[in-house]
Amino acid sequence: MGEQPPLLKLVVGALGLAVGIAPAAVAQQAPEPGQHLYEQHCALCHLDSGAGDTPTFPALRANNQLGDLARIVRSINAGSRRMPPFPALTAEDISSLANYIRNAWANDFGGVTTEEVTAVQEGLGEAGPMASVWDGIFTEAQATRGQAVYTGACAICHGRRLNGAPDDPDMRSTPPLARARFLRVWEGRSLATLFAYTGATMPEDNPSSLTDQENVDVIAYLLSAGGMPAGDDELQADPRSLARVLIGPQP
Ligand code: HEC
Ligand code: HEC
Repeated sequence: MGEQPPLLKLVVGALGLAVGIAPAAVAQQAPEPGQHLYEQHCALCHLDSGAGDTPTFPALRANNQLGDLARIVRSINAGSRRMPPFPALTAEDISSLANYIRNAWANDFGGVTTEEVTAVQEGLGEAGPMASVWDGIFTEAQATRGQAVYTGACAICHGRRLNGAPDDPDMRSTPPLARARFLRVWEGRSLATLFAYTGATMPEDNPSSLTDQENVDVIAYLLSAGGMPAGDDELQADPRSLARVLIGPQP
């Protein structure tokens, strides 16, 4: 198919206007806010297609639980057994997300308003202050413990330098776990997401084999190797407190 002749374009444009379609809807669309939030915060586990990775991560496509808005809001706000909480998302964000996942793919669970989300949120408890990975949120000793776990369980695939070049030359390359490229991919996500994802899927050759303590110690090591400063308190293996620490570039 070649370029449309200008006259045809004009007619198509006018037709669009005549039936009430904004010209933007005819052209390539930027993703709506709900889709954008989904891609940043949720697709890591539930996938762009909403198919999830069962049984580890449930599908959201054709999932009848999504008819229950209270369940969606509670899952996002407070997390659940293996899903991280998202205390930094506002009621408006959650309503955009709920609208997206309830109507994306072949889902058809209807729209929701921010007011409905706010009503469910009442009684779920207040969100506390947020922190950054640059705030000194692990200790030196913890990072050293984490390094031992990393060397034993992760380096074979992610590399001694954490750059994704495996120590074993027969292994395929993997994503880097520190520095610029890692930060770019993970920017805006919380340590609870990293903790939940790593705990459920890594080491890839033996998932869920780390204890929660080993998992959080490895995270301390990843941060330390990425240049983030140690502080006075250990990072706790507690999703709610990990959810308050956001990953991002050096301020
Ligand atoms: C680190 C992986 C991970 C991320 C990131 C994640 N989820 Fe989940 N999600 C899960 C897991 C695991 C469950 C099942 C929880 C359980 O069994 O308690 C779940 C459950 C859910 C459920 C409940 C489904 C049901 O069948 O009851 C919803 C809704 C949901 N997630 C939405 C989201 C949204 C929206 C986001 C992004 C803001 C998100 N999730 C991010 C792992 C994740
Ligand atoms: C057997 C090889 C292997 C081992 C061992 C392994 N990983 Fe991975 N890891 C992978 C592969 C492959 C991916 C990419 C997965 C994908 O994209 O589906 C990955 C992805 C990741 C990611 C997501 C990175 C991103 O930006 O998407 C994290 C975080 C991670 N691994 C952490 C760890 C930690 C921590 C350990 C040690 C406890 C570990 N991995 C051990 C192979 C491995």
